[in-house]
Amino acid sequence: MKELRFFFAAAASLLFAAGAAGCGGSGSGDDTNGGGDATNFVAFAKDFSGYHAWPSYDVTGDADLAGIHDGSTVTEYVNQLPPSGLTAFPLGTIIVKEATGGTIPHELFAMVKQGPGFNEAPPALPGWFWFELQNKDDGSDGVSIVWEGVGPPNGETYGGDPAAGGCNTCHLACGNDGVCAKPLNLADF
Ligand code: HEC
Repeated sequence: MKELRFFFAAAASLLFAAGAAGCGGSGSGDDTNGGGDATNFVAFAKDFSGYHAWPSYDVTGDADLAGIHDGSTVTEYVNQLPPSGLTAFPLGTIIVKEATGGTIPHELFAMVKQGPGFNEAPPALPGWFWFELQNKDDGSDGVSIVWEGVGPPNGETYGGDPAAGGCNTCHLACGNDGVCAKPLNLADF
C-alpha cells in the first residue's frame, strides 16, 4: 500500500512539475501516518512509553465488582483527559490498564481511539483499537506491543476466562463510549 501511494504521489508530482512548473507545489500531500493526521491516529509502541507519568486512577475496587483481575491491583492511565461536554473520547486518546499481583502477575492492556475505519464490524466499538502490551526489560518505561486489533488473536483468552475472548461486548455494555472505569465517565468531565 505504501509503495502504491508513493507511486501515485511520485507520478502526480512529475505531472505537476511538467505541466505547472510555476505553481511551486512541493510535497503538499500530507499522507504520512506517523502518529496520524486530523482524521486518524495510529498508535505505535513509542506512543505508550512514559504512561506511568500520565493521569492515573486506582480502579481496583471496580475491577473486583466486575469479577475481573481477581486479587490484583488495577490502575488505569490516560494520556489526555477528555474535555467536558463530549459523548465520545477524542481521537488520539490512549487508556492503559495495568493489573499487578493477581492470579496472572502482570497484565497490561490498552485501548486507543484511532478513528474512522477501526473496529466497525459488529459488535463494533467504532474507532477504538485494542492492545496487549509488555513492559521492556531494560527498566525503562517503554513497552512493546504483544498484539493489536479488534480483539485478541484467535485462541487467546482474556484474564484466563475462555468464555470472554473478545473485548468489545463487555466494553459496549459499559456505555460511555466503551470505557468502563467510573473515574473516566465522560459526563463527569
Ligand atoms: C468481562 C468483561 C470484560 C472483558 C471481556 C474485557 N474487559 Fe476490559 N474492562 C472491563 C471492566 C469492568 C473495566 C473497568 C475496570 C475497573 O473499573 O476496575 C475494564 C477496563 C479496561 C481498560 C481500561 C479502560 C476502561 O474501559 O476502563 C482497558 C484498556 C481494557 N479493559 C482492555 C480490555 C481488552 C484489551 C480486552 C480484550 C482482550 C478487554 N478489556 C475485555 C471489563 C471487561
